[in-house]
Amino acid sequence: MNKTEQTLSIIKPDAVERNLGEDIKKILVNNNLLVKDSKKLRISKDEAEEFYRVHQSKPFYNDLCNYLSSGPIEVIILEGEDAIIKYRRLMGATDPKKAEKNTIRQLYGLSIDKNSVHGSDSLENAKKEIDFFFKD
Ligand code: CMP
Repeated sequence: MNKTEQTLSIIKPDAVERNLGEDIKKILVNNNLLVKDSKKLRISKDEAEEFYRVHQSKPFYNDLCNYLSSGPIEVIILEGEDAIIKYRRLMGATDPKKAEKNTIRQLYGLSIDKNSVHGSDSLENAKKEIDFFFKD
């Protein structure tokens, strides 16, 4: 059964810097994902470390946190039927070189680090990630 879900999208510094936000949101909206809320902000390294805590033990953790805090990002709450898997399919594989044709990362990603977008990987993490940016 399809279900309405919310997921968190982050437009990363490389994509914000190239003004790709509107083009990326057009892809999302054209695929029946509703932009419920969005804001542009810049986070600190400490905040990036907290956000990416699940990757703490990975060799790329430090670079990843430096990168996410290196410039403005846009965070978006997306809502729609099966939003989590739908948005992950639209993003494509983590590494833009391996991403399927016409996915966001294939179209815009520069490298595995500068891969333009982030998306929640499960319902549980979507709730946590949305709260991280939108709970006041
Ligand atoms: P994201 O979906 O934001 O989740 C964690 C990020 O780590 C991922 O996108 C990549 O940008 C980054 N990353 C860097 N190196 C790797 C790697 N070897 N495997 C997975 N993710 C990586």
